[in-house]
Amino acid sequence: MAAVAEKAHADLAIKKIISLGVFDKSRKIIKRDGHVEIPVVSPASGFDTVLQNEPAYYRMLPDLTHALQDVLADDCLSLLPRGWFLLGEVIVVKIHPKLKPYETHIGQALLDYYPRCCTVLADDGISGPFREPVRRAIAGSRTRTVHKENGVIFNLDAVQVMFSPGNLKERMRMSLLGKSEYVVDMFAGIGYFTIPMAVHSRPRKVLAIELNPNAYHYLCQNIRENHVEDIVMPIQGDCAKETPVGLADRVIMGMVQVTDQYLDTGISALKPGGILHYHQTVPLWQYPEAAIRDVREAATGLGRRAEILSCRKVKKYSPGVVHAVIDARIDRDF
Ligand SMILES: C[S@@+](CC[C@H](N)C(=O)[O-])C[C@H]1O[C@@H](n2cnc3c(N)ncnc32)[C@H](O)[C@@H]1O
Repeated sequence: MAAVAEKAHADLAIKKIISLGVFDKSRKIIKRDGHVEIPVVSPASGFDTVLQNEPAYYRMLPDLTHALQDVLADDCLSLLPRGWFLLGEVIVVKIHPKLKPYETHIGQALLDYYPRCCTVLADDGISGPFREPVRRAIAGSRTRTVHKENGVIFNLDAVQVMFSPGNLKERMRMSLLGKSEYVVDMFAGIGYFTIPMAVHSRPRKVLAIELNPNAYHYLCQNIRENHVEDIVMPIQGDCAKETPVGLADRVIMGMVQVTDQYLDTGISALKPGGILHYHQTVPLWQYPEAAIRDVREAATGLGRRAEILSCRKVKKYSPGVVHAVIDARIDRDF
């Protein structure tokens, strides 16, 4: 069963249905022509209801409670992780501090569910200027892996470099942009945006700048294994120094928190009419104005004009804070 709403009013309708307590989380919202079908467990008052011909279900993650009910005390069972993600053959999971004594049991239970995986890493967040993950192996030991996504191969070491599953939509979006362009990826990492763009859109050139030697190592390997050596030129160094001036059709600034400090460099890299992708963390109550203001003020300071093309939420960053990306066309000097 699904409630029907006009596509243009979908966000509002979803909020209303959640507040009515009838939203069915196990199924996906489906777009059809000019309307959306929002899955519900019972009719939602104020909405037309239809029986869906082809409902789409989310793949449910296994429930660890069954595997660990004989090992954990009852009050600990409710603290078991309900979500995790796979990077190639490595499982990454956040574990409640109270469950530390049971980590190896949790790790083994996850490996039993995913026989093709070899290692489970407990995730304690991201730290430092290189945004390196803080992770420990709780089952298995091999942390180098190959993650495949959208026709792209990412070699990485899941303990050394970050890879955010929440950025998938943005990686897909970048894979559709840049055809025949000169692109600068100022914070290239292992090639999160550079490689999908090079594989699918074939820019004329992507200058991929990365400071961290570990990430740079995998960037170079990913360039080779995705056969985009003729397109991507990797540079190990600080983008504040290595970014060229006035050459780029498109600049990707895929870093958060400190990105504003590099805005002058990113904007100066663009030819008149070039496109900037500015990532930043923004408190929800200031979204998107705070990030737009960063771009506008930096452009004005350089005697240029920023036309804001779009603002997107990439993912939730922390409670009340979103990771946002602003697309802006940077026009010629006044
Ligand atoms: C947050 S990661 C990239 C995340 C990526 N956009 C994604 O979608 O998951 C940012 C990368 O920028 C690199 N970095 C940080 N400061 C830099 C700088 N000044 N110049 C070049 N790279 C830098 C870090 O080492 C890291 O690999």
